[in-house]
Amino acid sequence: MARDLPDTTPKNPRHVAIIMDGNGRWAQERGRPRLFGHHAGARRVREIVSACPDLGVKYLTIFAFSTENWKRTQTEVAGLMKLFRRYITREAQDLFRTGVRVRFIGDRVRLDEKLVRMMDELELLTAGNDTCHLTIALNYGGRDELTRAAKRLAYEIECGRLTHKEVDAETLARFLDTHVLPDPDLVIRTSGEARISNFLLWQSAYSEYEFIDTLWPDFTKDIFAEVVQSYATRDRRFGAVKV
Ligand code: FPP
Repeated sequence: MARDLPDTTPKNPRHVAIIMDGNGRWAQERGRPRLFGHHAGARRVREIVSACPDLGVKYLTIFAFSTENWKRTQTEVAGLMKLFRRYITREAQDLFRTGVRVRFIGDRVRLDEKLVRMMDELELLTAGNDTCHLTIALNYGGRDELTRAAKRLAYEIECGRLTHKEVDAETLARFLDTHVLPDPDLVIRTSGEARISNFLLWQSAYSEYEFIDTLWPDFTKDIFAEVVQSYATRDRRFGAVKV
């Protein structure tokens, strides 16, 4: 009998990606410098990461710094880079202890050597973890990632290790920074803006989107839980028709 009942188990997203927007406005509302908002944002990252296991979110990918963010003032860029180093120093042991595997995506070439070394060390330290997979996009842009992938693909063809006839979507995806990750089921953007801003362009082809009015530093784990749970009610068809 039970066999004939529809499966009504709510399905939470396995991979959630977040565009953490609104730190600057949050600080401005308090008459404080923009970096004050970024520091508050970093505290929220900690809270949201720790909420993932209970919500069944196995993969969390967060947009920390885009290839376009270099256009900000030198003070803000330097402050953000310092904040990333501080985050790694302060959070490394906790992330390791709680079973979080950390990865970074984006082009490391423009990042300072010390930060890149810390990123490598954190990836190595947490490489054996599997409770939650946290991916931090740093100097990341979807177009930049696709361009780098195309270059590497062309090089493989040039070297004779691949022929152009073998190139399909799956082959191209193997050259992306995210090649070991599943595509995001749900992409959340905070702060009320409804744009994707060059984030996971290829990977989010069939993702569900949620644009939330809350500014990132106010995005609590309760709001996160609500958004994740509302995803379960969505009907994803991936271009097909349900029969
Ligand atoms: C966008 O808000 C936010 C960023 C460009 C930086 C995101 C960084 C953090 C949340 C800090 C910590 C991250 C880690 C991984 C430790 P905005 O500055 O564009 O805000 P606005 O649109 O209100 O100006």
